[in-house]
Amino acid sequence: MRLGLNIDHIATLREARKIHEPDPLEAVFIAKNMGVDLITLHLREDRRHIHEDDVKSILKHAPLPINAECAIDPEITQILCTLKPFKVTLVPERRAEITTEGGLNLQHPKLQDTIKAYADCGIEVALFIDPSLENLDRALELGVKIVELHTGKFSNLFNTLYTGFKRHKNRLNFPESNATLQNMLKQSLEELAQSALKGQEMGLEVCAGHGLNYASVRLVAKLKGISELNIGHAIIARAVIVGLDRAIGAMQEAMRAS
Ligand code: PXP
Repeated sequence: MRLGLNIDHIATLREARKIHEPDPLEAVFIAKNMGVDLITLHLREDRRHIHEDDVKSILKHAPLPINAECAIDPEITQILCTLKPFKVTLVPERRAEITTEGGLNLQHPKLQDTIKAYADCGIEVALFIDPSLENLDRALELGVKIVELHTGKFSNLFNTLYTGFKRHKNRLNFPESNATLQNMLKQSLEELAQSALKGQEMGLEVCAGHGLNYASVRLVAKLKGISELNIGHAIIARAVIVGLDRAIGAMQEAMRAS
């Protein structure tokens, strides 16, 4: 199973100050050294984290394949068809959302043309879908070879049950009862398992991702039929904490040397 590292979150930190660091490109080299298989980034319409310049420089220098997530948007299609990442993953996008919510609307009037535009440029197209047999059938009908199963619902349920982070329940409008949440979690894992198997049987390449962390990934990585997981937030969040001692030490050293 391949690991795609989503580096948007590094750019989010940079954009908090609108300066030059941290540079997502630096992370790409570390990822390569660690055996990461591909880099995922999301060029959003509002450019809230990754900018066009990032995509350009990462594509120019990165020693890894780039999977560009993007919305169905003519301007973005034009940019990416020029820059040519190896894969584009079409995702829904809403301005006000914190992160991608829900899978793609597979009846979107511009979806088929967008898929064709990327295919004509020689770029692989993946659709980010909610896990269901109906969505797999539709993906096949649309002529794509790759789907990415949205693990967000599963991740939200997992985190609500096991992290003790109470604000989840209210924000996500989840029921109070843990027994109900357990059933919902079981069902969402089953949906992922069945979609992965069925997708593979249908000849689709099945990827998955969104919201996975070090605990929940264990359940998803076990599922048969999934060939790639795209993970960002949990890894970057962990890096900030586990890298803090070295970062503090380097600053103390710089102060001593002055
Ligand atoms: N896959 C897709 C299609 C996404 O939109 C995202 C979030 O940008 C991810 C994977 C990674 O999600 P996370 O940062 O929660 O690991």
